[in-house]
This record gives sequence, C-alpha cells and structure tokens, in this order.
Amino acid sequence: MIELKTAGELDAMRVAGLVVAEALATVREAAGIGVSLLELDEVARGVLAAHAAQSSFLGYLPGFASTPYPAVLCTSVNDAIVHGIPDGTRLRDGDLLSIDFAAHVDGWHADAAVSFVVGTARAADLELIATAERALAAGIKAAVVGARMGDIAHAVSEVGRGAGYGIPPDFGGHGIGRAMHEAPEVPNEGRAGRGLRLRPGLAIAIEPMLHLGGDDFGTDADGWTLRTVDGSRAAHVEHTIAVTEDGPRVLTAL
Ligand code: MF3
Ligand code: CO
Repeated sequence: MIELKTAGELDAMRVAGLVVAEALATVREAAGIGVSLLELDEVARGVLAAHAAQSSFLGYLPGFASTPYPAVLCTSVNDAIVHGIPDGTRLRDGDLLSIDFAAHVDGWHADAAVSFVVGTARAADLELIATAERALAAGIKAAVVGARMGDIAHAVSEVGRGAGYGIPPDFGGHGIGRAMHEAPEVPNEGRAGRGLRLRPGLAIAIEPMLHLGGDDFGTDADGWTLRTVDGSRAAHVEHTIAVTEDGPRVLTAL
C-alpha cells in the first residue's frame, strides 16, 4: 500500500532530512586520507546524538540480508556500489567513497547518499560522480504531479546510459515515511509514460547507482556489500523527495 503524506507529515520528514543532510556533510568533511571507515561511523553517530535522532540502518534486517545491519552509515569504497559496512579500513588518496545515511525523528524517516573522492581525484571518477548527480537531478525534476514512475526511472537511466555507464539491475529507490523502505519501488531504469501515477504527498528516495564498467554486480561474503564484478568503480547518490502541487520538494538538502 502506498501511503501519501500530508503537508505536515512532509514537514516532519524534513526534520529528519536536515539531520541526514548535516550528517552527510559532517562525515564528508571528516573523510580525509588515513581516516578509517569506523571513525566515519562514529562521526555519524555523533550527529544523531546531537539531534536525539535514531538511525534507520542500525539493526535493519531486510529480506535480502542474512544479518542485521551493524552500523549507522554505509561506506562503499571504489568498486563497492552500496551497503558497504564500515570497518577499520583507512581511506587512501584517490579513493571514491559513497556514504549513505538515514535517520528517523518522531517516527519519520529520511534517507540520502553522496559520493566523492578523497584526496587526489582521477578525472574519470569525477565524471562518474557528476553524472550520477545529474541523473539524480533529472529524476527529481521528473517527479511532478501527473507524471508516472516510469518518467523518473527513464530520466535517471537516460543520463547514466547516455554517458555509457553500467547500472546494477533490480536495485533502486523506494517509498519512505514511517518506514525507511515502503512501497512503491523507484527503479533506476524504465519506460517513460508507464507505471504508477505520481500524486501529491508521494514521498520517495531516488538513488541512482552508476558503474564505470558493466552492469554486473555481486554480494560480498558479509551479505551486504554490493560490488561490481569487473572491479570498476561505482558512484551512488540519493535524496528523499516529495511530489507536491508546487513541484518536487527535496527533503534531504542542506
Ligand atoms: N539507502 C539504502 C537503501 O535504500 C539504505 C541502506 S540499507 C541499510 O537501500 F541496511 F543499511 F539500512
Ligand atoms: Co535508500
């Protein structure tokens, strides 16, 4: 069932969205060469504590995983696409890091992700990240009353495929609200003009994932980390947005 949100409920989600935006900015600031992924998780925990917000990730056990998620942050380095678990690994010059974070306040969730390079960047990585950001912007722009879910999916994939990048099949965004993952699914590839009609109050996370190489991915032995099979680097960006009569409202922007 798809639960449309009232304007007041979207305002409540925005409270969580601001915590998420602050956490991502703070973690990004902290993510220097030599810093460990676990230290970044600690930074994110500090932002949660400062706002009396709860992690949406910690202890989360979706159908595709066999163990509860053990951290508040996802840290996906280089060929890791999404759901990388923070460990003692220290960041190195030139690493492409994707961080994903979600929080809930008063029971309302928000979810977002950014990708960036630590230290000296390769041009190809910056282009990959910029394209993922353009794909996200195109998806958000398509999220208007009367359009369809396929218009969002098509907008995202047109940018990513247009640049020649891989896209992991069957992974994408989701409805969000009282739970981090709700109906409907928000695919990263699809046909314009098809699918769910977008109505005011629909709250969704749009999350393009792009690979420098092919589409194929596997799951690490940890049961969580998705990684490109060809070892190519991946970027992942995400915003929680709402469809409103006044156009798309980004709930996780700073
Ligand atoms: N933004 C991610 C997603 O929607 C959330 C990571 S799953 C978690 O898939 F387990 F880490 F919570
Ligand atoms: Co998400």
